[in-house]
Amino acid sequence: MAEMREAPEGAPLGVKLTTWAESRFPTAFDAYRVHLSEYYAPKNFNFWYFFGALAMLVLVIQIVTGIFLVMHYKPDAAKAFESVEYIMRDVPWGWMVRYMHSTGASAFFVVVYLHMFRSMIYGSYQKPRELVWIFGCAIFLCLMAEAFMGYLLPWGQMSYWGAQVIINLFAAIPFIGEDLSLLIRGDYVVGDATLNRFFALHVIAVPLVLMGLVVAHLLALHDVGSNNPDGIEIKAKKDARGIPLDGIPFHPYYTVHDIMGVGVFLFLFSAVLFFAPEMGGYFLEFNNFIPADPLKTPAHIAPVWYFTPFYSMLRAVTDPMVNVLAALVALGAVLAVLKGGISTRAKAAVLISALVAVVVLKTFDAKFWGVVVMGLAVMILFPLPWLDRSPVRSIRYRPSWNRWLYGLFVFNFAVLGYLGIKPPSDVGTLVSQTGTLFYFGFFLLMPWWSRIGEFKALPDRVTFQPH
Ligand code: HEM
Repeated sequence: MAEMREAPEGAPLGVKLTTWAESRFPTAFDAYRVHLSEYYAPKNFNFWYFFGALAMLVLVIQIVTGIFLVMHYKPDAAKAFESVEYIMRDVPWGWMVRYMHSTGASAFFVVVYLHMFRSMIYGSYQKPRELVWIFGCAIFLCLMAEAFMGYLLPWGQMSYWGAQVIINLFAAIPFIGEDLSLLIRGDYVVGDATLNRFFALHVIAVPLVLMGLVVAHLLALHDVGSNNPDGIEIKAKKDARGIPLDGIPFHPYYTVHDIMGVGVFLFLFSAVLFFAPEMGGYFLEFNNFIPADPLKTPAHIAPVWYFTPFYSMLRAVTDPMVNVLAALVALGAVLAVLKGGISTRAKAAVLISALVAVVVLKTFDAKFWGVVVMGLAVMILFPLPWLDRSPVRSIRYRPSWNRWLYGLFVFNFAVLGYLGIKPPSDVGTLVSQTGTLFYFGFFLLMPWWSRIGEFKALPDRVTFQPH
């Protein structure tokens, strides 16, 4: 049992109260010190470091608005659409709560994409922060599941047909596909059973996992300490008390600093919320204001903007694209054999594996490989810490052309996103096929390109201009 301490006679009331509480609940006070007042964060954090705190803010907005929505929403195929209209028209401030939740979903992805990109340009996933990154990737997967299931709940045309298209994709998986899609739907078509299970998962199961992962993400980060825009370890230089010379206590310095980020974010968030909550059909699609009709397929079904880069990659996999993939596998194997440096047995193994891969590629249809490519586009993020072999973390000290490459990566992702919103076309398919190859090439060739070029000398201490 912790030692009972008493505040000295005549101490102020505040000191008496905290001493009383601390001797009864020391863990809370230790946590405050470890994670806030004595957590030393690098003093050179910049704009990019706002997004972690903002992601936490959006998570809170989603949970709080979600609780109020559930008070009036009815998870029943016959009543769901009406109940959302009731929230929008009759529940006091209901329209605002609903728009906060729908805008919050898009804001979550804006913030998280920027947060992930920051980790990429500053090499924050590199040793010793691999687990922070892996928890982050798991969070991203959960967010995608959460957004997908949430979108079914208003039971509009896009909710219904979007879910129909995506769940049907699972049916393309050989052997287990049909049973798997039946399990997800709970019926032979998207219906009341689907709505009920998506509601249960969206409202309680996934948010619980998400919150657990966020806690793990932050605990893992605080165990190793934050990276920074220079990508050098501040723990390498400490003062006599063992405090990093370039570290400042998170509270009050960054708590106050983050308030500025929160202010700017809320300003932009409110602008969208009050003036353009549907964002021209990008945040809430127009078709979703029409009740779900299982007998009427909308002319054009597209997911919400944050899924479209991945949706483009799915659509890019046509029969000719499978042939290109088979040719790339064969070419890779031939190059590996010609490069030499491996035993004859290893060469034989490479050729046989490539042959098997080509046969498997040609055995299943393009739709299935589209699903695989879409899944792999997310899964490929997990091993990033091991794909990147750069001797330095931050892009600041990598060869200058790396900036162009990362710029191109973002541009390519945006183009894929744009194409995923549009109806398919011949040119669009060709561009998304090229974009898909670039996306995977960026990651798969990283072990090679991340090592080449001229690296700049790392500074001794972080670069910081007082402002
Ligand atoms: C709900 C979603 C998330 C929340 C609430 C969250 C929260 C945070 C917070 C508060 C930080 C510390 C402050 C900062 O560096 O900005 C952080 C750091 C980090 N996060 Fe996240 N995060 C989320 C999602 C993700 C995702 C999806 C990834 C990557 C796939 C990721 C990767 C990282 C990395 C690598 C760091 C360390 C950055 C550094 O030290 O430079 N996070 N996160």
